[in-house]
Amino acid sequence: MDLDTVIEKRHSVRSYCGMVPADNDMERIVAAARKAPSAGNLKAFKVFVLRSGTERRRMMESTLHQTFISEAPYLLLFCADLKAIEPYGGRGKELFCVQDATIAAVFAMLKATELGLGTCWVGAFDEDKVREASGSPPHLRPVAILTVGDEK
Ligand SMILES: Cc1cc2nc3c(=O)[nH]c(=O)nc-3n(C[C@H](O)[C@H](O)[C@H](O)COP(=O)(O)O)c2cc1C
Repeated sequence: MDLDTVIEKRHSVRSYCGMVPADNDMERIVAAARKAPSAGNLKAFKVFVLRSGTERRRMMESTLHQTFISEAPYLLLFCADLKAIEPYGGRGKELFCVQDATIAAVFAMLKATELGLGTCWVGAFDEDKVREASGSPPHLRPVAILTVGDEK
């Protein structure tokens, strides 16, 4: 699929069929995220791959109970890494690590589209609840969640 087609095809998917994406596809999506540009190439972001029913339910509860979130077979949580970005001072903490996480999420989203998978960007959530639900430490700031699955 060429880039024009990927961009044309991408749309928010909030309804999923029962099929679970292949492990290899999920690995390729995460690998695409890791290829994103980042400030000073510090890659000041972390990606959590959430698969279990308990994890997805807890994330749904942390995102204003948007029910489609627990129905997606996979969730990718992108966090800004405030520790890794320390060399860039205040601007790094406030901006660069958030941008790193955001760009990585976009790369993942476009790769998922190219693989024929549906995604939805989720930004409406309680950061503390998401951090708790994912077990991520305080220096990781949740920036975006991507749902991933086959569109119904
Ligand atoms: C920063 C951001 C936050 C978003 N948060 C949510 C969300 O919490 N729940 C949701 O269902 N969609 C969310 N979306 C998806 C948008 O609603 C969607 O991208 C927009 O309506 C355009 O539709 P499209 O993605 O199909 O082109 C978010 C998108 C962005 C970029």
